Amino acid sequence: MTHTGTPVTVLGLGLMGGALAGAFLRAGHPTTVWNRTTAKADDLVARGATLAESPAAAIAAAPLVVVCVSDDDAVADVLDGPLDGRVVVNLTSGTPSRARARAEEVARRGGGYLDGGIMAVPEAVGTASSVVAYSGPRPLYDAHALTLDSLGTGLHLGDDPGLSATHEMATLVLVWGMLDGFLNGAAILGTAGVSATAYLPIARTAIDTVAGWLPGYARQVDDATYPADDGTVDTHLAAMANVVQESESLGVNAELPRLVKALAERAAAAGHGASGYVALVEQFRTP
Ligand SMILES: NC(=O)c1ccc[n+]([C@@H]2O[C@H](COP(=O)([O-])OP(=O)(O)OC[C@H]3O[C@@H](n4cnc5c(N)ncnc54)[C@H](OP(=O)(O)O)[C@@H]3O)[C@@H](O)[C@H]2O)c1
Repeated sequence: MTHTGTPVTVLGLGLMGGALAGAFLRAGHPTTVWNRTTAKADDLVARGATLAESPAAAIAAAPLVVVCVSDDDAVADVLDGPLDGRVVVNLTSGTPSRARARAEEVARRGGGYLDGGIMAVPEAVGTASSVVAYSGPRPLYDAHALTLDSLGTGLHLGDDPGLSATHEMATLVLVWGMLDGFLNGAAILGTAGVSATAYLPIARTAIDTVAGWLPGYARQVDDATYPADDGTVDTHLAAMANVVQESESLGVNAELPRLVKALAERAAAAGHGASGYVALVEQFRTP
């Protein structure tokens, strides 16, 4: 392998950091690495990486510094030493407020900052199916997009460094909602002796059907208009009451259906009984 690309540094060689460093090496970037537990660098060094003796030495070695550690406290620990002329790309999962605070701190220390979120498992890093979302100043992203593309498909979300973590929060809520719905459904079917595997065809159809509704629903959210094209909140409420009552009598957990019903009841009380389901967005906007 010839190392002709832009030099990069990777701080943190856990499951994900190690995969990121490996992808940079495969793409031909001279790659400097540092990890608190030095032994985790052995394989990467054997593949051509340079092991730095400290985070500060690693940061000094390349204009682009990718950080991927456990949490924001660990980021603070590894971002040691001068950052003049460096662009820090923080791919550690975090919160929007911490990303914005980190961007200010890095700027005070003379560096540029992009926050990012990896929507992939370590094995997929470096393939087209790995999507990495970035937020922070567009010119910084553009300057390093080619190098960052070594990690997978890059997506710039906007100039606000908090946007990546905000998208991550939104996506986690979406995923947990789907998973809890599936698990709750499996528990209900279990009372009738139906396995989760047998539930799959109908569960998949439901998820695909809802995914098909999203473009129209997204427009309604953006326009704040909730036409009852496919059923009113009141109609849903009647079905929700049934699910709560039956869950209680079947002896399965009824917390999720109760929460869903409570939100719809509040929407109806706010005058949206005859509106479409999207009217519930106003309940999610309320603390
Ligand atoms: N794994 C995934 O599938 C995945 C997917 C998307 C996003 N992510 C995100 O990627 C980040 C890293 O995840 P991971 O799976 O790589 O975790 P991991 O395997 O547990 O690695 C954690 C890394 O953080 C380092 N670290 C922790 N505390 C430190 C400290 N105080 N000072 C210096 N280094 C410290 C560890 O160093 P030692 O080796 O010395 O312990 C290790 O390099 C997380 O924010 C995670 O949410 C992971």
